[in-house]
Amino acid sequence: MTGEIASFPWRAQTRGIPRREPRMDKTTMAALEALLADDRHMAGKPFLNGYEQWLENGTALFDPELLAVQSGIPTDPVVAGIAMFRLREVFIDRFGFAVATPDLIAALVSLGPVLEIGAGKGALSRLLANAGANVIATDLQPQGDEHSWIDVQKSEATAAIRQTAGRNVICSWPSLNGTWITRAARAMEPGRILIVIGEGRGGCTGSDCFFDLQGKILEPCSEVLGGADVWRFPAIHDTASAWRRL
Ligand SMILES: C[S@@+](CC[C@H](N)C(=O)[O-])C[C@H]1O[C@@H](n2cnc3c(N)ncnc32)[C@H](O)[C@@H]1O
Repeated sequence: MTGEIASFPWRAQTRGIPRREPRMDKTTMAALEALLADDRHMAGKPFLNGYEQWLENGTALFDPELLAVQSGIPTDPVVAGIAMFRLREVFIDRFGFAVATPDLIAALVSLGPVLEIGAGKGALSRLLANAGANVIATDLQPQGDEHSWIDVQKSEATAAIRQTAGRNVICSWPSLNGTWITRAARAMEPGRILIVIGEGRGGCTGSDCFFDLQGKILEPCSEVLGGADVWRFPAIHDTASAWRRL
């Protein structure tokens, strides 16, 4: 990690390094006004373009922390927080909720043929396909070719699992309060792996009933990810977890 990245304000805060109190002095106000006046698609451009290049070419290096710094995220913690919030909004709009990393993609590719359920715009599946994975992307409500990064087939998650036997399953950001990921896990064949990218109990993905499956029909198998994970925006707590269907 470079010195530049280490000085990235919200990241330093999360490591418990004492920071000065946020305050709205003239410079901060000016930075905030400039940020808000900026076209929202310009905010964090290198970060968004870096991800897009990775999707388009499959070869570009994507280093989220470096690109976030290069995207001109201001140094003031308050302004930085707002800038990152805006950057995340645009990211979700273009790509989806999860910020994949090269390590995570490599770990997922090693799972063999996979089915993605609730794939949204299909950006994760596109990264997997670019990396050589045999992947089928599905969603209850595909957003159409114009807004998708890969062909996303229309299918409810449980039906998709039943129709595509022999695949491990990936689900990124199951809908908040939705129980479909729980039903989908039940529909999986014993021995299959389920990767879920989302928050934990009480978080803003899926429902807590999913976690009640642990020890009943699912057991954690974190070794399949080998420590690979998503990158997160500040105040977002999603993580990639691996489960084996019992
Ligand atoms: C929060 S979005 C996440 C999208 C994408 N995976 C991402 O990470 O950006 C949840 C997605 O689940 C889809 N969905 C909702 N209910 C579903 C179901 N029963 N079966 C399959 N997909 C479903 C929605 O259409 C939506 O695209």
